[in-house]
Amino acid sequence: MALEVPGIAANGLDMPALGFGTWQLTPETIEAILPVALESGYRHIDTAQIYRNEAAIGRAIEDSGLPRRDLFLTTKVWVERYEPEDLLASVQESLDKLRTDHVDLLLLHWPVFGGRGMNPTLEALLRARSAGLARHIGISNFNIAQTEQAVAFCGPGTLSTSQVEYHAYLGQERLRRVLARHNLVLTAYMPLAKARLVNDPVLWEIGSKYGKTAPQVALRWLIEQDRVAAIPSTSSPHHCRANIEIFNFALSLEDQQRIAGLNRGLRLCQPQDLAPEWDD
Ligand SMILES: NC(=O)c1ccc[n+]([C@@H]2O[C@H](COP(=O)([O-])OP(=O)(O)OC[C@H]3O[C@@H](n4cnc5c(N)ncnc54)[C@H](OP(=O)(O)O)[C@@H]3O)[C@@H](O)[C@H]2O)c1
Repeated sequence: MALEVPGIAANGLDMPALGFGTWQLTPETIEAILPVALESGYRHIDTAQIYRNEAAIGRAIEDSGLPRRDLFLTTKVWVERYEPEDLLASVQESLDKLRTDHVDLLLLHWPVFGGRGMNPTLEALLRARSAGLARHIGISNFNIAQTEQAVAFCGPGTLSTSQVEYHAYLGQERLRRVLARHNLVLTAYMPLAKARLVNDPVLWEIGSKYGKTAPQVALRWLIEQDRVAAIPSTSSPHHCRANIEIFNFALSLEDQQRIAGLNRGLRLCQPQDLAPEWDD
């Protein structure tokens, strides 16, 4: 039976707290796994222009027969499409592939801007929203200074989320405080630290108290936090179903603190020529 995932609200956004990540999932894998995800109750799907799977996602959604309004779709504009006119054209291409007339959330994928800085691209992002191509807009992989600059330019309450790497091995304390101050949801990518958390003995020990696995504990820990969403990815039907079975238990304060104590500043995603100077 499909589970109902609770929503997370901030700056006008109402987004399921758990989403389905699709980076590195080929069109063939999407075709196999997305029906399982939708049947299990995932309604929030995270993709990006650069993942090259938007068309497969669009097909799978159409085949599911689910009403569009029940789904929350995120895509991200690739850095090579940041010139204002091209940004809007690229979003239209994404919408065509996704077989929809709007996405729920549109993000700038990485903070890579030319000599004119980020403002023209932010302006185009705002235009995409006012043209109805996206219900909400946000940023991804921006460091604190870039986040402050984007929020200042767009105005308070305009950006809804920042999608960044966040998991039990990467604490992100300073950025989390900044996002909370601006009421931005932190969407945690690589929430399982690219499967490294699957083998963590502390998470298994904690999970044994609740009848849960280490990855389930890792995901639960994230979504229990204020204005934090998580978007794990998997190509396995078993993992897909297990990762959403996290809404029938709650971690004790002591367990939450133990998991926070696992932080070791492990940052896995820092692609050359894309990643900014991180804050920690
Ligand atoms: N904005 C950005 O720049 C950015 C960057 C990276 C990622 N993201 C988004 O975040 C999503 C998630 O990140 P990610 O896919 O890199 O990392 P992740 O979700 O932390 O880890 C995925 C890995 O964990 C394994 N896994 C998942 N569930 C499991 C379970 N229950 N038990 C054991 N293993 C499990 C998967 O293998 P199996 O397939 O075998 O289950 C896969 O190898 C991406 O798909 C993408 O949508 C965004």
